[in-house]
Amino acid sequence: MTGMSNSQFPPVRKAVVPVAGLGTRFLPATKAMPKEMLPVVDKPALQYVVEEAVTAGLTDILMVTGRNKRPLEDHFDRVDGLEAALRAKGDQRKLDLIRESSELADIHFVRQGDPLGLGHAVLKGEHHVGEEPFAVLLGDDLIDERSPILPDMIDAYGRTGGSVIALMEVPQEAISLYGCAAVEATEVDGLVRVTDLVEKPDAADAPSNLAIIGRYVLSPEIFPLLRRTEPGRGNEIQLTDALKEQARGDGHGVYGVIFTGERYDTGDKLSYIQAVIQLATRRDDLGADLRAWLREFVAGLDD
Ligand code: UTP
Repeated sequence: MTGMSNSQFPPVRKAVVPVAGLGTRFLPATKAMPKEMLPVVDKPALQYVVEEAVTAGLTDILMVTGRNKRPLEDHFDRVDGLEAALRAKGDQRKLDLIRESSELADIHFVRQGDPLGLGHAVLKGEHHVGEEPFAVLLGDDLIDERSPILPDMIDAYGRTGGSVIALMEVPQEAISLYGCAAVEATEVDGLVRVTDLVEKPDAADAPSNLAIIGRYVLSPEIFPLLRRTEPGRGNEIQLTDALKEQARGDGHGVYGVIFTGERYDTGDKLSYIQAVIQLATRRDDLGADLRAWLREFVAGLDD
């Protein structure tokens, strides 16, 4: 897909990042800290996500927070005491590291109140977003910076004016862990039209093996649909349910961009550990030592 600068639709400028989930799969670490603040190697998962948004040109970021919002706000703000201590020590490198996160973007916060689901969290962004298209990035889905998907999704919005979801092929037996899309081809390679959506279907009933992953570009048509969405699966207001209405309705519809790059899931414990190892093995400062140790460690396991 190539850039569409002359789109009839407004540009995508804002991102909404919901961080108000309870993170129950990661207790007790998430008792007093949002799961999006768990470190992946040496940065909170959320910082990767904010960097991804900024790289895609979205520097206006609204975080939808819940009960433990304090560590989030502090991480993306200046921390005077720490800065002063590092300055006194003359440690410019660490000073730069801690400043990076506070100078990344123009970050705003809104409270979700009760965590009534992802759809409810997105609806809390309505006032800040207004009548514009916007991106939604989930903090437990890390997209490898070498294979970004947001630019293609923003491009797809510019072509269609519809909401755009990120889809990834998964083994049929794994589809019951995800939202699933029924799709038809468009004339653009890698871009499909979504005809229906089902949240976490049984493998036998799934209309495809295309799973929804945590990136969205939503048209403002989504807000009235979300307001009408009743609690669904898990008694939560599901974004997938509102998108299903948009896909079936007579507005600009819903499209999917097929993701073929690398992605890391940090929402559950095993996937989180895998994500940390994968990212660390590729780091310039840690990779060689970690790979050497891993080989020895794995050989030991086989004995
Ligand atoms: P998840 O379902 O993965 O988050 O929501 P969760 O409920 O925190 O996780 P578990 O299952 O209890 O471990 C996907 C995203 O939506 C946000 C979460 O923070 C996460 O980024 N979310 C979810 C909200 O902001 N509010 C909600 O009410 C629900």
